Amino acid sequence: MKDEHTTLAVSILMSIVAGIFSYKILPKLRETFVRVNLSGRDMLKADKPLLPETMGLPIAIIYLIVLFSFIPFPFINWFEGAKLVHEEQSDFATFPYNKLGEILAAILAIQSMVLLGFADDVLDVRWRYKVWLPAIAGIPLLIFYYTNMGATHVVLPLQLRPYLGELVDLGILYYIYMAMVIIFCTHSINILAGINGVEAGQSLVIAISVIMNDMLYIFNNPDGASLEAHLFSLYFLIPFVGVTLALLYHNWYPARVFVGDTFCYFAGMTFAVVGILGHFSKTLMLFFLPQIFNFIYSCPQLFRFVECPRHRMPRFDPTTGLLQCSTVRLNDKKPTRFLGNIMIKFLHAIGLLKVFQYDKNGRILECNNLTLVNLVLAYVGPMSEQNTTLSILCIQVLSSLLAFIIRYKLVHFVY
Ligand code: UD1
Ligand code: MG
Repeated sequence: MKDEHTTLAVSILMSIVAGIFSYKILPKLRETFVRVNLSGRDMLKADKPLLPETMGLPIAIIYLIVLFSFIPFPFINWFEGAKLVHEEQSDFATFPYNKLGEILAAILAIQSMVLLGFADDVLDVRWRYKVWLPAIAGIPLLIFYYTNMGATHVVLPLQLRPYLGELVDLGILYYIYMAMVIIFCTHSINILAGINGVEAGQSLVIAISVIMNDMLYIFNNPDGASLEAHLFSLYFLIPFVGVTLALLYHNWYPARVFVGDTFCYFAGMTFAVVGILGHFSKTLMLFFLPQIFNFIYSCPQLFRFVECPRHRMPRFDPTTGLLQCSTVRLNDKKPTRFLGNIMIKFLHAIGLLKVFQYDKNGRILECNNLTLVNLVLAYVGPMSEQNTTLSILCIQVLSSLLAFIIRYKLVHFVY
């Protein structure tokens, strides 16, 4: 464990340096990004200022440089010439190539995602195509998994074991599941977005929660088989926290920079990588509860059962300076599909929809856009942008607490 302490100390040190460097460099890059048209209007301000977008790119590059420089440290003993020369048997025979391969595959997946995210920011790829980008970037990861780990079985809940046994081998379905985790992690952060600080803020809360979970695991099972997996997770998430903190500082209300899709994809892929290679993708999903809710809630619009405008962010009221929930008009440009109407009625019935207008037959004509941010504003009433972000981050923190309770207390009823 002593070696691991040193490696973790190096990781923390590098992350602090990366954070400070990111903090200093972002303001310097602002003009350059605006000059090359990597910019967007801050829609929720009275004067709609033009801000540099895609600031996730420099952040991700700094992160990758940190990881590149960090690669030797988990193997530091193997680089000590004395040990290699003086030991009788060849240590090369047992060099943990699979551990090195794991780190390289993870870096490659994150790097590919950053590249595709940047392409999306520049080209504004349509949703029907960009949905698949994370799966493409995840291919190196899945191939590594196939050749080195290959475990495709899952442990079944206690209640199902009398019928199906303790383990079930999912085979190819497990790879489809992993691809879906990657697609979900990346896009779910990108659609819980649109107000200053929310993309970087939620990613920070998730990263800190996963780090706390790793620490709990390491302290409780210092020699357990999963120690390596949780250390691996720490090596990837500690630098992520470093650079994300700096980005959040500049993206916090009133934002001086936007994070861009590059950051959302980069963050999502980093989480997916540690969850998949660390074998804790189900626990990871527990830290995505607000994103899971936001995704399911958004489905009627994402799958076009209900009209989905290009932007679903809240609406800015210039007279009060507060945000209100933005709305969608049903049957406006084209008639809302039969299933869409049923979904809307269902959401209304369970209290998850605020209706703004009915037609003379009592049918819903206008309701809030189906996102968590709009739902909070619909219930709580108009709020400043900063308080709206804080509310979402509070929900994220409370969900993390719930996730820990489920993971460490309630789990015994099921596993
Ligand atoms: C996703 C959401 C969209 C939301 C957008 C906001 C879905 C299906 N898509 O689209 O509804 O409006 O994110 O990021 O849910 N912006 C701000 N303030 C912010 C952040 C962003 O005004 O704090 C605006 C800026 O004009 C910026 C733009 O949003 O240029 C970025 O939107 P983009 O990331 O391209 O939208 P999508 O990810 O496609
Ligand atoms: Mg986006």
